[in-house]
Amino acid sequence: MTVPRIDPFHAVTLSTLAHRLAAEGRDIVHMEFGQPSTGAPKAAIATAHRVLDSDSMGYWESPPLKARIARHYQETYGVTVTPEQIWLTCGASPAFVMALLCCFPVGARVALARPGYVAYRNTLRALHLEPVEIPCGPDARFQLSAAALAALDPPPAGVILASPANPTGTVLSAGEMQAITALCRARGIRIISDEIYHGLSYVGPVRSVLQDEPEALVVNSFSKYFSMAGWRLGWLVVPPALIDAAQTRVGNMFLTPPSLSQHAGLVAFDCREELEGHVRMYRRNRDLMLERLPALGVSRIAPPDGAFYIYADIGHLTQDSLAFCTRLLTETGVATAPGLDFDPVEGNRFMRFSFAVSTDRLEEALARMTPWFARAHEDAR
Ligand SMILES: Cc1ncc(COP(=O)(O)O)c(C=O)c1O
Repeated sequence: MTVPRIDPFHAVTLSTLAHRLAAEGRDIVHMEFGQPSTGAPKAAIATAHRVLDSDSMGYWESPPLKARIARHYQETYGVTVTPEQIWLTCGASPAFVMALLCCFPVGARVALARPGYVAYRNTLRALHLEPVEIPCGPDARFQLSAAALAALDPPPAGVILASPANPTGTVLSAGEMQAITALCRARGIRIISDEIYHGLSYVGPVRSVLQDEPEALVVNSFSKYFSMAGWRLGWLVVPPALIDAAQTRVGNMFLTPPSLSQHAGLVAFDCREELEGHVRMYRRNRDLMLERLPALGVSRIAPPDGAFYIYADIGHLTQDSLAFCTRLLTETGVATAPGLDFDPVEGNRFMRFSFAVSTDRLEEALARMTPWFARAHEDAR
């Protein structure tokens, strides 16, 4: 068995270049990562200031935070989850690693949508699992379906669901979610649902997989809705039968997330007004993007239902999205992500815009990109 080859995250390469250009004095609009520009809720920051002087900051799993997350599942989705089923982690990333480690033996096949979040494919490979990518085009709004999953023969050991998804922001309908969970139950396919973009929806409430399948594992985090990416705090929900498996893996491999973040995260749960203000800003940004992208000649998109991304087909402009995004950055100072990160097969003709920036900065980016894209059209003719 060899050490698996892992692809780079090209958006990181672009971001490094963006920061270098900024250090040289260029004004950069950062639309390459799904990174809220808003910062943690004010009350969470105030709590962090306060506990820094009073808490010894040892290894700690906050019982009140676990209880608060459990309450969140009851209040938001009407599902009962006990605090013992919840594992606090340094973000969704280690929660995802833990979920995979709890469920699958080496070599297991795990299905996922293509395009999809770059780390799914790469983490599966790093853990000696086999990603089975299902091409999901614009007609399927880039989402998995029960039919596509049923067509896999033999069935995979697991499937990763993401709704709202990265890089597209599209959501699984309640009907499709139920069809997928029914199929997985019938075929013994374990579901891992990445619900990191819950709370960021423009189409009403989004369903948690736990409403349809209590045996699923759910990954979530404070990085997106709660605007606390750098605090590195997330969680994993496991079904009761996997509590022991999770306990041994956490204890050996991860221990606990920062105490400071757990104190702040608990308070962030009750900062709804401030956080809903962010969602209103993302909605304005989304509408602005949808209104202005046609003027850039970019119209082959699936309007996002949630998250803060637009995944655009730019095949009429380039077949090399990495070079295209690099040129866009160096010539306009607007940093974006190449589709190659999300789709190793067709991603060369896609790019992703993150609109998790302030509306002013988004206006600035659009003002710079509009003439640049017009020239790119001329060049492509
Ligand atoms: C779909 C998805 N899952 C997980 C993550 C990782 O999040 P975290 O910061 O919580 O590790 C990201 C980050 O962008 C993401 O887009």
